[in-house]
Amino acid sequence: MISIIGTGRVGSAIAFLCTSSGLDDVLLVNRTEKKAIGEALDLANTIPSNSSISVMGTGNYSKIANSDVIIIAASIGEHSAARTDMMSENTLMIKKIMQDIAKFAPESKILIVTNPVDVLTFLASKYVIQKNTIGVASSLDSSRFRFLLAHQFGTDQSHITDALVMGEHDDSMVPIFSHAKFGGTNVTELLDQNQIDTITSKVRFYWKDLRSTKGSSVYGIAKNTFDIAKAIINNKSLETPASVLLKGEYGFENLCMGVPITVNKHGIVKIHQIPITQNEKDQLCKSANIIKNNITQAEKLLS
Ligand code: 2OP
Repeated sequence: MISIIGTGRVGSAIAFLCTSSGLDDVLLVNRTEKKAIGEALDLANTIPSNSSISVMGTGNYSKIANSDVIIIAASIGEHSAARTDMMSENTLMIKKIMQDIAKFAPESKILIVTNPVDVLTFLASKYVIQKNTIGVASSLDSSRFRFLLAHQFGTDQSHITDALVMGEHDDSMVPIFSHAKFGGTNVTELLDQNQIDTITSKVRFYWKDLRSTKGSSVYGIAKNTFDIAKAIINNKSLETPASVLLKGEYGFENLCMGVPITVNKHGIVKIHQIPITQNEKDQLCKSANIIKNNITQAEKLLS
């Protein structure tokens, strides 16, 4: 069963991908129970006719018991200027949610979507098995990097490979240009520094373009979350960047940050340490410091 906590636009979009593909039973959880029930009634009509799955809505957290995957997409409010706008409120919220998960579904794999995702993933990892706690963010940033590189080269996204973004899921994120390829050629051989800087800025502030046009991102984060949930449910190993607890990888520890991992039904099965340039490492250090400062602030709230 897949439990989705928070049935706003993102949570509902994730649920839609799960029910319309017949992936698994879905439980929608919302503090406003009728919202969850209403979404379930709607989503019930997306279940394929030959599928045996079900979809239910509830405000009762105890019903998440025995979930295989729990997706946390709830937020106390919408951030506007920065992804950390709601850090205080969402820190207190994640504590309560994780206490319920630790009580009712301690073995589940937890996918965190709520911002600031690196901080909340770190806090969440303290309540359950760390290898089961994954922040969904860098795969979204990497899909944006791939899209922007394809646009830069006037091609479709299938010709762009290894487009990877690491670090914070926020303004200090690090597109790893030294890894990305267009038609098998490393993109650093095809771009000048001005183009690299421009693409970096566009990746980092992509969410603001969405904010100023349609209000907020929905489908990109939903699909990236669905892909990880699907890999876990179907036990298909998926290589994807995600925010996970580091214990020395890339020289960082005791924080969650976007790095390339492999995930399957057993949770995080590998953190890949790929070669990066010194400049990319320096940028990752800056990103790590920002995350650590935010974690320190959040932990003060919980103490
Ligand atoms: C995004 O990157 C807001 O974190 C969300 O679209």
